[in-house]
Amino acid sequence: MEEKYYALLNYGCQMNESDTEHYAGQLEELGYKAIADFHNADVIIVNTCCVRESAEKKIAGKIGELKAVKTKNPDVVICVAGCMAQKDGDKLIKKHPQVDLLLGTAYVNDFKQILLDYLAERGSKRRTRVYDDLTIHQSEFEGKMVRQSKFEAWIPIMYGCNNFCTYCIVPYVRGRERSRSMENIVAEIEAAVADGYKEFTLLGQNVNSYGKDFGEKDAFAKLLRRVNEIPGVDRIHYMTSHPRDMSEEVIKAVAECEHICENFHVPFQSGSTEILRRMNRGYSREKYLELIALIRKYVPNCTITTDIIVGFPGETEADFEDTLNLVKEVGFDAAFTFIYSKRSGTPAAKMDNQVPLDVKKARLNRLMEAQNINSLKCNEKLIGQVVEVLAEGPSKNKDVWNGRTRTGKLVLWPLEGKTYQAGDKVYVKIDTAQTWLVKGKAVDNG
Ligand code: 5AD
Ligand code: SF4
Repeated sequence: MEEKYYALLNYGCQMNESDTEHYAGQLEELGYKAIADFHNADVIIVNTCCVRESAEKKIAGKIGELKAVKTKNPDVVICVAGCMAQKDGDKLIKKHPQVDLLLGTAYVNDFKQILLDYLAERGSKRRTRVYDDLTIHQSEFEGKMVRQSKFEAWIPIMYGCNNFCTYCIVPYVRGRERSRSMENIVAEIEAAVADGYKEFTLLGQNVNSYGKDFGEKDAFAKLLRRVNEIPGVDRIHYMTSHPRDMSEEVIKAVAECEHICENFHVPFQSGSTEILRRMNRGYSREKYLELIALIRKYVPNCTITTDIIVGFPGETEADFEDTLNLVKEVGFDAAFTFIYSKRSGTPAAKMDNQVPLDVKKARLNRLMEAQNINSLKCNEKLIGQVVEVLAEGPSKNKDVWNGRTRTGKLVLWPLEGKTYQAGDKVYVKIDTAQTWLVKGKAVDNG
């Protein structure tokens, strides 16, 4: 039989990466093989993101590039999947007639069948579009995943979001919250352990709401404790958390369970209570700081990371300074900082007093400067300590390897004649701290 190839172009968050791994699994079940150069593929999937305009522009450029691929090889199947496909629907096909298959966010599990149906009918029906129904996504799934890493696995635990933060497009493109059953999640993790996986990230747009749709209280804390008991699971991470929904039970689970890593990713978005109110975040600056204090009470040696938006409509200099001060006060280990991007269809897009781009850029720079000081300070605390690292691979300089600590910090150490495999546990004594990473030497054990 003639060999068939697939290429995947993934954009966006970890949920998209996980969906892409699921597409790869389904394509391999159909006998397709992965190929790096999309020009030579028989099926190309572009898995898209629309969280900010900058992402959309980049992706639209890439889809545009595929026009030439289609002209050269009219038999190629070009599939656009994910959040932008969901948002733009028919408009996207009109703009990019080279797209054969448009797949909304709720159809990941059905991709294999949709592709087979499309190929069977292709002569009569040139295009297939499935994006209308956001509710059909059965949250359970089995089947093959082709994971990027050999030791770290993404595990979706819930889909969608009910929060409706006023800046955010996600609830419109990912639909309402739907949780996977605990048995289905545990079965996937056990199967991954059998394949050699050690590190697991439980994914959802708002993991602290896990199980609310089953009417179960503290379901996320229970899930964390259950995953902690699976033999062979070494590290557990989870994202993303909403400060309003993060319960004491979850913090206790992190404190008490050996394998749950002691990093808390808690996006605060803005340090101004007034902006938080207009973002519909459901907490104040003070409540957020109380949460941080509670986390530090239970898990004193934890790291804390966050997401921040600057330039939300109506953000004044004083509001921005509240954000800056909160960053300094908490001393985050790392922060993902974003310029507010107007998403049409969201309430914030219609608000008055949109902040000019030059003001937003200047605020972002001041914020990053403050955070870089925090990051360096936090990393300097590791000097002299021996940290546990899961080895990832060689750096640009092949004599140096890199890996991550339990809290996600990047560590570099020289090979010194040794050989490592991805996923090996290495203990590294830290001697140098930089803003983005730490360096040290491998030692015998912790
Ligand atoms: N503009 C800028 N940043 C945004 N985010 C979500 N929506 C927007 C937007 N419209 C950021 C938030 C979120 C992260 C994943 O992306 O900080 O936590
Ligand atoms: Fe992008 Fe949000 Fe969709 Fe993830 S869920 S791909 S961040 S728009």
